[in-house]
Amino acid sequence: MRAVPLVAFMLASFTAPALASPDGKTIYARCAACHLPTGTGVPGAFPAFDGDFKRLLANPAGRRYLALVVIHGVSGTLTVDAKTYRGAMPPQQLDDAGVANVLNFIATGFAKAGKTYKPFTPAEVTRIRASGATLNSSAVAALHPLAGGN
Ligand code: HEC
Repeated sequence: MRAVPLVAFMLASFTAPALASPDGKTIYARCAACHLPTGTGVPGAFPAFDGDFKRLLANPAGRRYLALVVIHGVSGTLTVDAKTYRGAMPPQQLDDAGVANVLNFIATGFAKAGKTYKPFTPAEVTRIRASGATLNSSAVAALHPLAGGN
């Protein structure tokens, strides 16, 4: 009878769907190393997820910028909520669902996006990834002022 659990396990592995991306909170643990567990960042070093993030969420160019930051990283001069940053964030190796999950976690948590917030979907991130495929981290920074960031 020892074989029964093994058989059950094998059947379960055959029928189980592909592993889902980790949820946003789990992914955020890696962002927290720099942006802090509270999302408040470190002024002048790591931006907070506050007013700037919330404003960016509200328009398509801003949403594109945010997803591209996570995909390609961002480097060079950024002005975020009247503070200047001259740092470099490395690209985060996440699939489209992972990018959507972590941005939704930040938006609804730290950035207090509110009831009208339209969550990122994996499909939106797929489109953004394709449209920004040739960009690098400094090109992403150049999008910030054009995307309503300040
Ligand atoms: C190694 C440190 C580090 C990690 C890890 C990190 N970031 Fe960053 N992040 C930065 C730095 C530094 C900047 C500012 C870069 C600059 O000055 O050009 C930044 C900028 C940003 C911005 C732009 C903010 C704005 O208002 O324009 C977003 C959004 C962001 N990070 C999201 C994330 C997310 C989401 C994660 C985790 C998946 C993450 N970061 C992980 C260091 C980090």
